Amino acid sequence: MKRREFLKTAAAGVAGTAMLTGLNETIKAAEPNPTEKVRVGFIGIGGRGTDHLRTLIGFPEVEAVAVCDLFKEKTEIAAKICIDTGHPAPKLYFESDTAWQSLLEKEKLDLVIITTNWESHAAISEAALKKGIYVGCEVPIALSVEECWKLVEASEQNKTPCMMLENWSFRRDNLAVLNMIRLGMLGEILHAHGAYSHDARSYWFDQNGNTRWHGEHFLKENRSFYSTHGLGPIISWLDINVGDRFTELYAVATAARGANSYIKQKFGPDHPNAQKEFKQGDIVTCLLKTAKGKSVVLNCDTLLPRPYANRWMVQGTLGIYDEEKASIYLDGVSPKEHQWEPWKPYAEKYDHRYWKDVSNDSGGHGNEDRMELRLLIDAVKSKNGVPLDVYDSVTMSAVIGLSEMSIEQDKPIEFPDFTKGHWKDRKPYFAIDRML
Ligand SMILES: NC(=O)c1ccc[n+]([C@@H]2O[C@H](COP(=O)([O-])OP(=O)(O)OC[C@H]3O[C@@H](n4cnc5c(N)ncnc54)[C@H](O)[C@@H]3O)[C@@H](O)[C@H]2O)c1
Repeated sequence: MKRREFLKTAAAGVAGTAMLTGLNETIKAAEPNPTEKVRVGFIGIGGRGTDHLRTLIGFPEVEAVAVCDLFKEKTEIAAKICIDTGHPAPKLYFESDTAWQSLLEKEKLDLVIITTNWESHAAISEAALKKGIYVGCEVPIALSVEECWKLVEASEQNKTPCMMLENWSFRRDNLAVLNMIRLGMLGEILHAHGAYSHDARSYWFDQNGNTRWHGEHFLKENRSFYSTHGLGPIISWLDINVGDRFTELYAVATAARGANSYIKQKFGPDHPNAQKEFKQGDIVTCLLKTAKGKSVVLNCDTLLPRPYANRWMVQGTLGIYDEEKASIYLDGVSPKEHQWEPWKPYAEKYDHRYWKDVSNDSGGHGNEDRMELRLLIDAVKSKNGVPLDVYDSVTMSAVIGLSEMSIEQDKPIEFPDFTKGHWKDRKPYFAIDRML
């Protein structure tokens, strides 16, 4: 059969094939019981925590049992959101950076949503896992390799699923690309690019030019500190932890100029942050190698002026997809040899079932935030594995600690095998329950 004809018939068969060959024994398609309640605790009620609270209490089975923040006012705002939308008031925990421990101790929870500052994610997640509570933690779930291992051990030993809420894994275009890759349309996958290119300086610094909690990190560390958005879709495109794994990472950082330059322009040369020495390089580029001979280039680029981009690209023996160009080229299929064709018709044809199934009404960043939370709740209710498991969560986050070591030592660093050898026989599970 010619490649063009093969591709016409392949789409029809993909869902059935995936169901037969792709499901991991421990991770089954969720079969939620519609009447069962899911008791959720929320830790960290800032911008992101408030968004997740609003979305989750919009699901009929979710009960916001308790909320926790450093500041009483923030917990009261959360309680008001619950009451104003006809829900019972949650219990409030506040005023200490360890108040979350009392919340985990005293409340009977099915799930905890963690949206605090980066540095507390791993400790809170680990404590919840040790109590058998499902974890949904914002990005990144860990800042060091040591924290990553603690999460793997806690999840395995307590048989409790742990999910980092990497929403870009659920983006509509990324899932359509995943469908095409699973159909074999790009051939054997060999290479991918991803980036978090986002001028976020007005987020890292407050309206007076002082460092917010994120900016404080830039004084002390130099690393690919926001790696998970770029890497999210790539780990599923490349079968990382399910047939392949990262073996090595090499990171290079530019000099640190963006923060000083921004503060000087916006707040004048006499502002303390205009001259302060920042350690964090403006652009960190990581090169990752896999056991099966693939490579990935990943940029963390948030300190220079530029429009937002993720610059995803994935390339195999039969074709290439480029997100920034919104284009694709399939050998023997695209109408003109060696010329891009528009991605849009493919996006429509290979749209993932998750996107066909969601309603269009709410949730941040389009609908992927709502989707990841909906799938997480389904998993908790049916006591199944989570949509992105602990191995994938820590693999995306480990880039932070590994890149710091690589920059410091100016050499490639071995990437830990968090699956302890099981990557060889683990089967793809991400977004496979519904496919096309
Ligand atoms: N996935 C995405 O697209 C996305 C978007 C925005 C933010 N985020 C992530 O969400 C997380 C939160 O970001 P944000 O923008 O909401 O920050 P934020 O500063 O607005 O909120 C953090 C909240 O956590 C609270 N907090 C800090 N330490 C705490 C502790 N020990 N106990 C209880 N509460 C504590 C703070 O008081 C604050 O209210 C970060 O990890 C960020 O990277 C992800």
